Amino acid sequence: MSTPSSPHAPSSNASVPAPNAAPASGFQLFPLRVLQEKKERGETIAMISLYDAPSAVMACDAGADVLLVGDSLGNVVLGYDNTIPVSMQDMVRHTGAVVRGVRQSARPWVPVVADLPFGSYAGSAQTIADNARALMQVGAHALKIEGAHQSTLNAVQIMRDMGAPVMGHIGFTPQAVLGFTRVVQGRSVQAARDLWDAAFALQAAGCCAIVMEAVPVEVTHAISSRIDVPIIGIGAGVGCDGQVLVWHDLVGLSPQSLRFSKAFAQAREVLSQAAVQYVQEVHSREFPAVQHGWNLSDDERAAWNELTAEFERRDTSQSTLDAQENL
Ligand code: KIV
Repeated sequence: MSTPSSPHAPSSNASVPAPNAAPASGFQLFPLRVLQEKKERGETIAMISLYDAPSAVMACDAGADVLLVGDSLGNVVLGYDNTIPVSMQDMVRHTGAVVRGVRQSARPWVPVVADLPFGSYAGSAQTIADNARALMQVGAHALKIEGAHQSTLNAVQIMRDMGAPVMGHIGFTPQAVLGFTRVVQGRSVQAARDLWDAAFALQAAGCCAIVMEAVPVEVTHAISSRIDVPIIGIGAGVGCDGQVLVWHDLVGLSPQSLRFSKAFAQAREVLSQAAVQYVQEVHSREFPAVQHGWNLSDDERAAWNELTAEFERRDTSQSTLDAQENL
């Protein structure tokens, strides 16, 4: 398998570094250009949705083209039933963490897209601008919104006017989960036509890429092959310009396995086994072992033993008074 050279590497000939390579200095003036360039070259974009610095380092070192700080944070990490309770504060905190992880990685030029959470792009132009600014100023390179209603298209334009790149998201849009009755969208010709219109409306509003979630393969393929901006699919088949999966799903940390997802490792089993062993070893006093701690030097130990023997000879109240004097 060949490793394509990265158009965003500091040198035009630099290739994707080996996993765990040393951090590179990789400032990029146009980090998002990779999306359009990959589409134009017919190469598939690999995007990962994740929420913390160590995962971001691993994803970048593995060669991910773009990271998403998804508001799936809500159900995947924060324990909510859906993404609706996720706040701007949550997104700002986790976007900052992912951005710092990217900078610590061997590919610090990888762009980070941050989800604008439920309700954060539905208010006044000032509120939309403030929320966009908050995420861009912690290092996001683009913002993602869900849906293509007129108010959402207006929000895209407000952000584009500010100079903030925006990614769309249509098909199954988790922030609208309570309004849906099924996961897969676009299964009738009319519904597929609506998705087509939505994709082209988002492109016209200035979106730099569009996520399509849980949409029949034929529909995403038809749109991807005719629209200019990259279509990144999740549960949308192989005919898209890219794929996105949630980190916890792809490493096998999520308790459930979803039809459109694939666990490429069994992290849940590995971590659960580690926790079981830790608890057992603490209970049995096998952990910590000698090598996990520190000892006094021989001289200090002898002096310390003398001092503690002295303490033992005194009564407790006298020791307390001495301790207070020594403070
Ligand atoms: O929130 C998220 O992680 C997402 C992706 C699944 C596309 O929106």
